[in-house]
Amino acid sequence: MATVEVSTEKKAEPPQTSVPAPSKPKTITLRISRFNPSENAETKFEEFKIPVQKWTTVLEAILYVKENLDHSVAVRYSCRQASCGSCGMKINGKPRLACYTKISELESNVVTVEPMNNFPIIRDLAVDFKQLFSTHKKMKPFIINEESEVQPGAKEFIQTPQDLEKFLQFSYCIKCGLCNSACPTMATDKSFVGPQGLAQAYRYTADNRDQGKKDRLKIVDQSHGIWRCHFAGSCSNVCPKGVDPAMAIQLLRGYLLGFRK
Ligand code: SF4
Ligand code: FES
Repeated sequence: MATVEVSTEKKAEPPQTSVPAPSKPKTITLRISRFNPSENAETKFEEFKIPVQKWTTVLEAILYVKENLDHSVAVRYSCRQASCGSCGMKINGKPRLACYTKISELESNVVTVEPMNNFPIIRDLAVDFKQLFSTHKKMKPFIINEESEVQPGAKEFIQTPQDLEKFLQFSYCIKCGLCNSACPTMATDKSFVGPQGLAQAYRYTADNRDQGKKDRLKIVDQSHGIWRCHFAGSCSNVCPKGVDPAMAIQLLRGYLLGFRK
C-alpha cells in the first residue's frame, strides 16, 4: 500500500525584490512662456496640464505638450543627457538644463519655463547663441603650440596629474550658457565677455601645453572684459557641470596681476 509523506517544513519565502513599486502619475500645470516675433511682440504664458511620474524631466513635460497639446512650442534640445548644452532655460525662476531637471525635485505642482535671460529670444524657449559662440571663439579655445604638428619622431606632451588638475574642471563646459544668463553684469553690459568665455580663456591659459597665454590675456584685459566681473558668483551657482566660472575669473586675474605665471 502506498504511503503519503506530509512535510512539516515551512515553504521557502520568494526572494525579496529590490525593484521599487511604480510611482503613481500625478498632474502638474506647466506654464510655458510664448513669444513669436513674427506674430506678436508680446510675451504671454500658456498653461498645460501634464501627467508626470517621479522621474519625468522638465524637457519630457515640454515634449509632451509638443506631441499631444500644441505642436508649435519652440524648444531646443538634442542629447537629453546634460551633454550637448542645448536645453538651457529658466525653470521656476532659475537657469537650469531642462533635460537634467526632474519635475519631482522642484517640489511644486506648478512649473514655469521661460527662455534664459541675457540672450535674444528666437521664439518661445529657444534663444540665440550667436554671441556666446563668437565670444567663445575669440578666446582661442584650443592649444596653441608651435610644436603641435605631428611630425615623424615627435613625442607626446607629458602632463603630470597636478598639471591636469589645474584646468580639468574648466574643460567640462558644455556651452549651455546658463552662467551667462545668471550673470548680473551681462544683464547691464551686452558687450561683456561673460563667465563662459572667461572660464574658457582660463582653461587654455592654465594648460601647460599651451603657449597662447599672452594673446588670451590681451583679449580679456579690455573695457568689456575681465575687470567688469563683480564676483557675484551666480554663474558658479547655476553651472550644471561644476565648472565654477567665478573661480576661473579670479585665477585668470592672477596672471594679469602677476602673481600667477
Ligand atoms: S561654464 Fe557651466 S554654465 Fe557656463 S556654459 Fe559652461 S557648462 Fe554651462
Ligand atoms: S538636451 Fe542636451 S543638455 Fe539637455
